[in-house]
Amino acid sequence: MASAEQIKALVHSHFDGDEEQFYSVAMQMAAAAARKGQGKFAQELRSLIDQARTTPSIKPVNTPTPISRPRGELVDLLTVSYPKVRLTDMTLDERLANSLKRILNEQRHFDRLRSHGLSPRRKLLFTGPPGTGKTMSAAVLASALNLPLFTVRLDGLITRYLGESIAKLRLIFDAVSQTRAVYLFDEFDSIGTHRGFANDVGEIKRVLNSFLMFIEQDNSNSLIIAATNHPQSLDYALFRRFDELVEFSLPKPELIIATLKQRLASSDCVKVDFEQLAEAAGGLSFAEITQACDDAMKEVFLEERKCVKTSDVLAPLTERVRFHQRFVVKPPRPIE
Ligand SMILES: Nc1ncnc2c1ncn2[C@@H]1O[C@H](COP(=O)(O)OP(=O)(O)O)[C@@H](O)[C@H]1O
Ligand SMILES: [Mg+2]
Repeated sequence: MASAEQIKALVHSHFDGDEEQFYSVAMQMAAAAARKGQGKFAQELRSLIDQARTTPSIKPVNTPTPISRPRGELVDLLTVSYPKVRLTDMTLDERLANSLKRILNEQRHFDRLRSHGLSPRRKLLFTGPPGTGKTMSAAVLASALNLPLFTVRLDGLITRYLGESIAKLRLIFDAVSQTRAVYLFDEFDSIGTHRGFANDVGEIKRVLNSFLMFIEQDNSNSLIIAATNHPQSLDYALFRRFDELVEFSLPKPELIIATLKQRLASSDCVKVDFEQLAEAAGGLSFAEITQACDDAMKEVFLEERKCVKTSDVLAPLTERVRFHQRFVVKPPRPIE
């Protein structure tokens, strides 16, 4: 049977409206049952969870989204996806996990908050080094809210539509107010650091200013996320246009270990010294660590070996650290 703690966690997550946590606890209960030899119960619980995940909840937490594909001119400006990635697929420190959960919770109670004259957080600025989960978090928010994710590349917009970019940006913001979705302006500062022809510079400034103005004027139900690897290059005036600044950072040792464990979990046999790997991976991003795990698992698979060993993961990790030392100006930070 499930432990008392698990049952309490289940009830809590239900009250909090935290669907992710609810499924995660239920999966843990299934895993515990399987370990105790209650295979049939574990199997039934898993298929119930799968069924629940693929069926829309009876009480929808968000307004349904009728449109699904960008049409007309928007086709060239937005890329749509329907992510299925979940909060539990990420390893997060508590601060970041709480921040994402709070955003989700406010979105889920959108109407209630609005009816009390309160506005849920929905204009978000994600900052942090490459590979720390900014794009992934946007996907998690879209997935958890059952909304499409529209991605916009502002730099592409400028280079492709020189002279017309503000008109195109207006089209995007029209879509933001017409279709509730998550709109991710990915690597949006690249327009600030863009080095083009001299007359591009004026255009870039104008686009950035219009972007800020559109964000300020936006009063929609959509989630607007601007993600940047270089917050220091952003104009300070920009920050106040956002409801929430979400900071992503490189993983500390305990999160490195959690990431390694999660990524290697799909392998049948893992015999690695996690402490040693975490030490070697200091300064690497989540993306680099997951990639190193995948490299190791591929190698083991192709060599038809059964177990992943420390050296299998250590090799690709060290290679990446070496790459940092040679090509990335800022060396990886020391282990804390
Ligand atoms: N917190 C995290 N937990 C687990 N995996 C992560 C995390 N952050 C990033 N990843 C992995 O790295 C990949 C790239 O991350 P991404 O979100 O694109 O980084 P960013 O947008 O910050 O550059 C993801 O697809 C995922 O595999
Ligand atoms: Mg990204």
